[in-house]
Amino acid sequence: MMRVFSGIQPTGTLHVGNYSGALRQFVRLQHEAECVFCVVDLHALTLPHDPSRLAHDSRSVAALYLACGIDPERAVLFIQSHVPAHSELAWLLNCTAQTGELGRMTQYKDKGRGRQSVSVGLFDYPVLMAADILLYGTTHVPVGDDQRQHVELTRDLAERFNRRYGEVFVVPQAMIPPVGARIMALDNPAAKMSKSADSDAGRIALLDPPDRIRQKVMRAVTDSGTEVRYDPAEKPAVSSLLALFAALSDEPVEAIAARYRTAGYGAFKRALAEAAVERLAPIRERHDALMADPAGLDRILRRGAERAEALALPRLRAARDRLGLMPRPAATAERLAAAQSGEAAPSAAAQGAAARRT
Ligand code: TYM
Repeated sequence: MMRVFSGIQPTGTLHVGNYSGALRQFVRLQHEAECVFCVVDLHALTLPHDPSRLAHDSRSVAALYLACGIDPERAVLFIQSHVPAHSELAWLLNCTAQTGELGRMTQYKDKGRGRQSVSVGLFDYPVLMAADILLYGTTHVPVGDDQRQHVELTRDLAERFNRRYGEVFVVPQAMIPPVGARIMALDNPAAKMSKSADSDAGRIALLDPPDRIRQKVMRAVTDSGTEVRYDPAEKPAVSSLLALFAALSDEPVEAIAARYRTAGYGAFKRALAEAAVERLAPIRERHDALMADPAGLDRILRRGAERAEALALPRLRAARDRLGLMPRPAATAERLAAAQSGEAAPSAAAQGAAARRT
């Protein structure tokens, strides 16, 4: 059985690039495979962040998964930090990963560029991502193009660990859509559309209102010439817009290109804007309804965390065993579970009294 895992960071504003490269595949895959999807809040700590927003943003990303069509009865949907096995396995894998390979990660170099100093967390980020993936016996990781290198590293770590300590991890493969895996910024086709870029004009947020969407699309930078053609090398801007159109309308890119080939950029952009409005308006409405019922959303996420933890713990235990760590006493495991659910840990005296009663 195919086991799918993927995650999205609750940093900045989710945009149509995230939809095209990731969310859209997730919605399809939940009908074909066992799927585990995560809001990776621990990853959001790797760059300076606003603590007063993180919980809200994490709920909002969870609501967007649901609003885009993830069915929490089918797929497991949860918040990364609610399952502490992720951080624990990240530590175990830290002792298999090497500083040289982490230093070569392009995202680390890009995100660290221009900063006086970066956190150890930013450097270590791909190891936490590897832990996310490997905990679940994942076979396939649907991601956009920018995460390819991180999935490669995950494969290396899994193979190295298995070779050194014995077979524990499934070696996963990246699943990158052939079209739409790298949507470019609307105001700069040389740069990837990004959640955190300063310029809001470069991205269509999933929660942008219709007028804002129309305005941004109409102002999008295009290539020289007038022909609408899918040719990423010669026409990077128009090709990215075509890929976006395909993602938002579920139509093949060739069919869209054929329809607008000679129509001119203006007509093409107007049609793209309408496709975006049509796809995003219901997503925004569903998101807002889910956010208006935080208790309902939290119930879904609590159940998701329970299911995720049940899937993750056997493999974490296997990794601990292979590394030679002492088995964890059962009482510790219970206390950890109680602490995690927010209940007071039973005191030693209360436990003694309970034991005497039985
Ligand atoms: P994140 O949160 O930056 O992005 C979420 C997903 O969206 C894809 N994506 C894009 N696809 C097409 N065009 C774009 N312009 C674009 N920008 C982003 C990303 O490739 C990603 O699939 N490290 C990950 C989150 C993560 C993860 C994981 C993913 C943590 N653990 C385990 C998979 C498995 C990240 O920061 O994605």
